[in-house]
Amino acid sequence: MSSPTPQPGILDIRPYVAGASTAASAPRGRLSRLASNESPLGPSPRAIAAYKQEADSLHRYPDGAASALRAKLAEHHGIDAAGIVCGNGSDELLALLAKCYAGSGDEVLFSEFGFLIYPIVTRAAGATPVVAPEPSLRADVEAFAARLSAKTRMVFLANPNNPTGSYITASELRDLHGRLLPETLLVVDAAYAEYVTVDDYDNGFKMVEEFDNVVITRTFSKLYGLAGLRMGWAYCPPGVADALNRVRGPFNVTGPSQAAACAALGDDDHAGAARDHNARWLPWLTAELRGLGLTVHPSVANFILVDFPGNAEAARGHLLSHGVIAREMDGYGLPNALRIAIGLEEDMRAVVAAVAEFLALSEG
Ligand SMILES: Cc1ncc(COP(=O)(O)O)c(C=O)c1O
Repeated sequence: MSSPTPQPGILDIRPYVAGASTAASAPRGRLSRLASNESPLGPSPRAIAAYKQEADSLHRYPDGAASALRAKLAEHHGIDAAGIVCGNGSDELLALLAKCYAGSGDEVLFSEFGFLIYPIVTRAAGATPVVAPEPSLRADVEAFAARLSAKTRMVFLANPNNPTGSYITASELRDLHGRLLPETLLVVDAAYAEYVTVDDYDNGFKMVEEFDNVVITRTFSKLYGLAGLRMGWAYCPPGVADALNRVRGPFNVTGPSQAAACAALGDDDHAGAARDHNARWLPWLTAELRGLGLTVHPSVANFILVDFPGNAEAARGHLLSHGVIAREMDGYGLPNALRIAIGLEEDMRAVVAAVAEFLALSEG
């Protein structure tokens, strides 16, 4: 008997597997949930209060234009509110961008260890994924350039990248953009931009204002600790904002999410504390694990990628048995690595103790 068939490409999608938040084999008691790059400080108390306040208005549709939030974002970042489009997580915006700008016969280019959503949204749009190798676990402009073709409609670049934690510099980003045809859209996914402390990083906002083919996506899921609310946004040139506003659901971001995000943006102290916490514990964890003899890839985000050649799964299991949930990297083609988010001090000490014990047991 015949049955409805999904569009070409859909059944080629390897479903996204989210990082675990619990596990049957974990011990009872405190868990260090370090598999999803969430903020260990949680959201701003002001965001929680604003969210709760919305409880009495749940029968009302939200502001479909997210006007207050867009105005607040524009003020906060010194950008134009007209170019801001909000989404149900930045994931939604990445999917809508692919839907708007790529289709059958088109190619979408991203790097080998780029964020796993890119192949999913590319195939969902019916387009063909093209992968640029990442020689040193870092996006490489020449590798991108070598794979551009007349069919390349979009380029996705996570900057900083998940899961490698690496970034490309402001001048490399300009260089990459300079290689593209004007009709090829460069989507810079800057989900971790708030954590970056290096001087040669560019969040890309100026490029959006300069060029019609650059879009930046951002999120409240990471530094602002609002992953559960699914609030992302894109800063777009006028044509792209117009396209996204045509295809997005008219009420794609909820009222409580908008209120919480507005309040979070108003709490500089909390955002600063989250940034400071990361700036302290990211180098600490990196140094401690390197001190144990492991390769830790340099990261500018809120997680690290650590090599466990030949025994990453065993290491993950050992960490889990000590209540530490790390992220396996098989789906990214990095089966010898684990990704570990920056957590609270006790999480970080638990990681180091469990890894040290694992290494001692492996050697013994
Ligand atoms: C690089 C990157 N982009 C986008 C996202 C999605 O974020 P959101 O929660 O806004 O959908 C993530 C989440 O892990 C990410 O790592």
